[in-house]
Amino acid sequence: MKKISVSFLSSKNVPMDLRKIDETDADYVHVDVMDGKFVSNKTMPFSEMRHIHKYTSKRLEVHLMVKEPSKFIPLYAELNTEYIIFHIETEEDIIKNLEMIKSYSIKTGLAINPETPIKELIPYLPYLDEVLVMSVVPGAGGQSFIMESVERIKELRALIDSYKFPIMINVDGGINNNTKDYCREADILAAGSYVVLAADFQEKISSLR
Ligand code: DX5
Ligand code: ZN
Repeated sequence: MKKISVSFLSSKNVPMDLRKIDETDADYVHVDVMDGKFVSNKTMPFSEMRHIHKYTSKRLEVHLMVKEPSKFIPLYAELNTEYIIFHIETEEDIIKNLEMIKSYSIKTGLAINPETPIKELIPYLPYLDEVLVMSVVPGAGGQSFIMESVERIKELRALIDSYKFPIMINVDGGINNNTKDYCREADILAAGSYVVLAADFQEKISSLR
């Protein structure tokens, strides 16, 4: 059964939706962090995000869509965080940042944009607990799943299996009860608008597993 990570990026009322996610069997809350530089949108500052524990006791999967992950990793490491994920397209030293995440005993992840070749992940595989395959161009919720992602997920699965690394594959963007069938090789699905814009969160989460 797949794990489900719920993104509240498209929520109209974040505290209320976090409480609603808390009542479901979702595995993680997917926290999208945007700095207005790596992507043009900007999400709430950490000073607001640090209060998330008041609304959810779920473990967090933090997705940093930021130019300088090294500035954000120590902040998000303070929360109830299971994974910190940043982008392979960032210009900082990737291994240094993965080691920084590990120094907090938090699981590591690299996110990869639709146009970045999967093979670029190879040097980092020994350091990774998760790869987040972007099935949309990052920056906004509610976009459509890019069909080319299907082959990329398969390529990544074959790559991970060939090296026998225990790395989880997560797919992020445009996930719903139709596109989930394109992600058979994934271990986790990150879903946003499909869940949080619905009346019954649990029903939507169950339809993804
Ligand atoms: C996109 C974000 C995704 C997004 C998912 O930049 O990283 O996590 O919020 O939302 P949906 O499921 O609406 O595509
Ligand atoms: Zn995300």
